[in-house]
Amino acid sequence: MDKISVKKASAAKLKKKPAPGSPLGFGKILTDHMFLMDYEEGKGWHHPRIEPYRPLSLDPATLVLHYGQEVFEGMKAYRWPKGEIYLFRPRMNYQRLNRSARRLCMPEIDVEDALEATRELIRLEKDWVPSEPGTSLYIRPNMIATEAALGVHVSAKYLFYIIVGPVGAYYPQGFNPVDICIAEKYIRAAAGGLGEAKTLANYAASLLAQKEAHEQGYTQVLWLDGVERKYIEEVGTSNIFFYIGDELVTPSLTGTILPGVTRDSVIYAARDWGLKVSERRISLDEVIGAIEHGTLKEVFGAGTAAVISPVGTLAYHGKRHSVNEGKVGPLAQKLYDFLVGVQYGKIEDPYGWVERVV
Ligand SMILES: Cc1ncc(COP(=O)(O)O)c(C=O)c1O
Repeated sequence: MDKISVKKASAAKLKKKPAPGSPLGFGKILTDHMFLMDYEEGKGWHHPRIEPYRPLSLDPATLVLHYGQEVFEGMKAYRWPKGEIYLFRPRMNYQRLNRSARRLCMPEIDVEDALEATRELIRLEKDWVPSEPGTSLYIRPNMIATEAALGVHVSAKYLFYIIVGPVGAYYPQGFNPVDICIAEKYIRAAAGGLGEAKTLANYAASLLAQKEAHEQGYTQVLWLDGVERKYIEEVGTSNIFFYIGDELVTPSLTGTILPGVTRDSVIYAARDWGLKVSERRISLDEVIGAIEHGTLKEVFGAGTAAVISPVGTLAYHGKRHSVNEGKVGPLAQKLYDFLVGVQYGKIEDPYGWVERVV
C-alpha cells in the first residue's frame, strides 16, 4: 500500500465531542475523519487517504445500490486504565472481510494494510475514544462496488472506507438476560447462500423478523436452518451457545452463520478452562427437551456488541420457556468478566489477543 495521505479537517469544522458521561448510544456519533482507498481492475488498491468525514457522492447507477455488492466489518477500540488504546483480535475481522469479499466477487485487501489504515485513523481520532466503563470506539470498515452501469455484473471498481465513532456501554443498567423468540415464519440464510458473509443482504433479510419480534416484546430473533427449520443457527447479531449438562454447545460453521470473533474467543477460553465444548448441529427439539429435563443450564449469545448476552426466555409456538429462571448464569458471567477484562486491560491477556494502537 502507498503511504496514507492525511488531509485534516480545519479546526473550525471539528465536531463537538460528547461530554464525558453523556449517553452515546450506538452508531449515531461519528468522528471528524474517515479512511478511504480505491480499487480499479488492472490497477489494484490505490490512493489510501484519510480525509475529513463527508457524505459519499455516488452515481445513481452505482452497482452497490442495485445489486448489493458490499461487505463490512464491526470491531472496537478500547481505552485502557492508563489511557492507552487497544484493539481485540483485529486480524480476524479483516480475514473475515476478505472471505466475505471472495463470496461477493470483490477484491481482497492486504490484512496488514487494512490494519495500518485502522490504526492510523484511530491515532488521529484518539481523543474520540471514550473512557467511561463499557464504552468504546466502534470501527466500521466497509467495501462497496462503485462502477456505474446497470447490467447485473461484477463491478470493476470499488471503494474501501473506514468510519469510527464512540459507542455507549451495551448494558448501562447492568448485565441482564434478554427474551428471544424463535423465528418461525422467516429464515436468515440457507446453505449455499450468503449466510457466512458479513454483507448487507443478510441484515436486510433479518429486519422484518426483528421488527415483528420487537412488536411482540422480544429483544432478538433466534434463527433456525433454512431447510428443515429444525436446527439452531444464530441469534440477532450474535452467535449462540447452550450449556447442557457438562457440555457447552454451539452450532458448527457450515456456511449459513457468521463465524464470530467472540464465538471463537469463547470456544478457545472455555476449552482452556477445561470445559467440554462442542461445535455441532443442535436442534430446537434437543434444546426444548433439555429445558423439560432440567439439563439446560444456560443460553447466551456472543458478539462484539454485547460480548455475552444471556438469554432469559426462549419463546416457541406461543410458549415461553424460561432459562436458568431468567437469571445470568455463572458461565456467562465468567466469560463476560474474562473477555471484557482482557479487552479493557483490567486482567492479563493470556492468549495474545489484544494489540496496542496508541
Ligand atoms: C449475524 C451475526 N452473527 C454473529 C455476530 C458476532 O460476530 P463477532 O463476534 O465477530 O462480532 C455478528 C456481529 O458481527 C453478526 O452480525
